[in-house]
This record gives sequence, C-alpha cells and structure tokens, in this order.
Amino acid sequence: MADEIRIEQHLAEEEKYRLLNSQLKSLLTKEDILISNLSNFTAAVNDTFEKVSWVGFYLYDGKKLYLGPFQGKVACTSIEVGMGVCGTSAEKRETVIVPDVNKFPGHIFCDGDSKSEIVIPLVNQDQLLGVLDLDSHEYNSFGEIDKKYLEQICKFLCEEIFPENNIKDI
Ligand code: SME
Repeated sequence: MADEIRIEQHLAEEEKYRLLNSQLKSLLTKEDILISNLSNFTAAVNDTFEKVSWVGFYLYDGKKLYLGPFQGKVACTSIEVGMGVCGTSAEKRETVIVPDVNKFPGHIFCDGDSKSEIVIPLVNQDQLLGVLDLDSHEYNSFGEIDKKYLEQICKFLCEEIFPENNIKDI
C-alpha cells in the first residue's frame, strides 16, 4: 500500500492527473472500507489542485444523494436526484461542467464563494452509486482534461473500490 501521494505543484495539469490517478490506484484498495478510501481520495485531489476549493462525494442510497467524505467547507447533507448540479449529473448519468455557477439554473449554493464546478456520476452496471463533485473559487476552472481523468478514476472507483452491494454494505 502506498502511504502518500507525491505530486509536485509545478507540473502541468495533465501530468498531475496522470500521476494522481496512478498513485490513487495504488493507494486505494478493497481491503479498506469505502469511507476510508473515499476520504483519502478527496484528500489527494485537494492536495494536488490549488484550484479546487471543495471536493467530495454524494452517495446514492436508492432514493437520494447523501453527503459523503469531502474536503472543504461544510455542505448540504442531502440532494434530490434532478436537483442542482449534482442531482442533474446523477439523473442524466453524465459529467456536468459548469463554468459559471450563477448561470446554472437550480445550482445549490453551499459555499457563496464557489464560481465553477464539475460533477462526475458514479455508475456501475447501470446502477447509480453517487457523484463526485469538485468546486472552485475561480470561473472556468474545469474543462475536458478534468473530465477525461476524473471519469477514468471514477470508473476505477466504481469497478474496483465500491462494494458490490453499494453503500448499504459499509
Ligand atoms: N453545488 C452543488 C451542491 C453541492 S456543493 O457544491 C458542495 C449542486 O448544485 O449540486
């Protein structure tokens, strides 16, 4: 088991993502419980990218999305599927990039300083597991590079780290 994530701040963003994803694949293991894995995941993302002001999971229990492990300011504890950016991503099962949160109808403000956001759905074998949400205090912080690498690592989480019977197992 790797004990730490080592990514130098001066590297280009894509290189940081390559290193992050490969180190996360060593750090996270099914021997550990889901909450521990997701907590370390959020710490690693938060340490790697200065642009990220909030990173965390909302986990789906079959009815709603519930706040899971995160780094950042306190956040709303539950979100209905279809509501806000997280609920929209969960409903459509698509990554949603929001360059300016003021222009996203129904955006749920947890942090008044949040300016842009990306949400990646966690889906395995047609089953919704939750979403990963990243926020930034700058506009236009997230784009296609973020989408590509976050979707890759979320696929790994869904296939290799989530328990087969979803979050009721933890
Ligand atoms: N902005 C999100 C809510 C979660 S927080 O940003 C942590 C949304 O609109 O779904």
